[in-house]
Amino acid sequence: MAKVEIRPSHRMDCIKEYYFSKKNREIAELRKQGRDIISLGIGSPDMPPHQRVIDRLASEAQRPDVHAYQPYNGSDLLREAYAAWYEKWYNVKLNPKTEILPLLGSKEGIMHICMAFLDAGDKVLVPNPGYPTYRAAVTLAGGEVLEYHLNESTDFYPDFEAIEKQDLSKVKLMFVNYPNMPTGTLPTVALFEKLVAFAQKHNILLVHDNPYSFVRNNMQLSLLSIPGAWDVAIEMNSTSKGHSMAGWRVGVVVGRSEWIADILRFKSNMDSGMFFPVQAAAAEALALGNEWFDELNATYYAREAEGYALLDALGCEYRKNQAGLFVWAKIPATFEGDCFAFSDKVLEECDVFVTPGGIFGSEGEHYIRISLCMPKERLAEAAERVKSRFTK
Ligand SMILES: Cc1ncc(COP(=O)(O)O)c(C=O)c1O
Repeated sequence: MAKVEIRPSHRMDCIKEYYFSKKNREIAELRKQGRDIISLGIGSPDMPPHQRVIDRLASEAQRPDVHAYQPYNGSDLLREAYAAWYEKWYNVKLNPKTEILPLLGSKEGIMHICMAFLDAGDKVLVPNPGYPTYRAAVTLAGGEVLEYHLNESTDFYPDFEAIEKQDLSKVKLMFVNYPNMPTGTLPTVALFEKLVAFAQKHNILLVHDNPYSFVRNNMQLSLLSIPGAWDVAIEMNSTSKGHSMAGWRVGVVVGRSEWIADILRFKSNMDSGMFFPVQAAAAEALALGNEWFDELNATYYAREAEGYALLDALGCEYRKNQAGLFVWAKIPATFEGDCFAFSDKVLEECDVFVTPGGIFGSEGEHYIRISLCMPKERLAEAAERVKSRFTK
């Protein structure tokens, strides 16, 4: 029988399969061949959430009345938990009825926001280096990416003067992310104030993506705590990193009710709510206190020390005081900015995978990123392998 000829949409021409989707398959293949690969790629916490969170999921799932579709805008319980959490940690007051929209992870929120606000030809300021999903979502939604560069010359903060040299008349959104992934750079009040002033001046909606504020960082900062920010910004957050719940898919977008309603208008046509026991368990996670974050960060700091030893063995340079789940490091000059060749060589010789910084944009080409989502013993083993096998 003849097979029908179906071509993927033109929309798909502008995106490739997600880097880690492909790379993880390659790594699985190497493991099948018997190689013990230590993958320091993706930032997926390897530790479980708090036991109370798991117990709550299990007990709620026993109820007979929680298995139906859930409200499109999330349960009252979860929205109220987010409101209390934002007030406690960020000193930001949110109306749980209208200013909070739970998401199935912030990754989907990025797409929903682009679909809700972009028309064909609208431009979006996207960080280079930055989370690859920003670029993909903007392009899929018909928008155009206008990069802004983050590099050593401005300590990985946006260079507003350079940005303003471009034509910004068609720019509608700007993605911002501090603590920054992949560079680990911390947010500052001064940065957020500049962003708010910039957005006001150019009539741009800031989309702040804030999933790393609790990891290797003790000064939680929300863009919405800055005077004037409510007029120009929305913010996403996530339980994936700080609560070790990446696979649960619980995130949130918060901000002015009109914008939240716009995003809900799109999202409610895409999914049918989140399993109630997951929402109840996420509310439990959001109620955790300092002890949870102290313990989590003690683990990550111990891993960071081993990560530094690995990077030293690789001859990489890095700044200390980076936040989030990763360390961003510059590869030796002898590799002439070929982070892909560097990463391949480390994998080939040492069975250790480090992410080439170039996947985050051209500014990442001289860099690699290592994930700390790995027990410290394995990070130490990676360092030992590099010391004994890596030919610089
Ligand atoms: C900067 C950034 N934003 C968003 C996400 C997605 O997080 P979530 O699990 O909430 O979809 C990630 C995950 O790696 C990230 O690094």
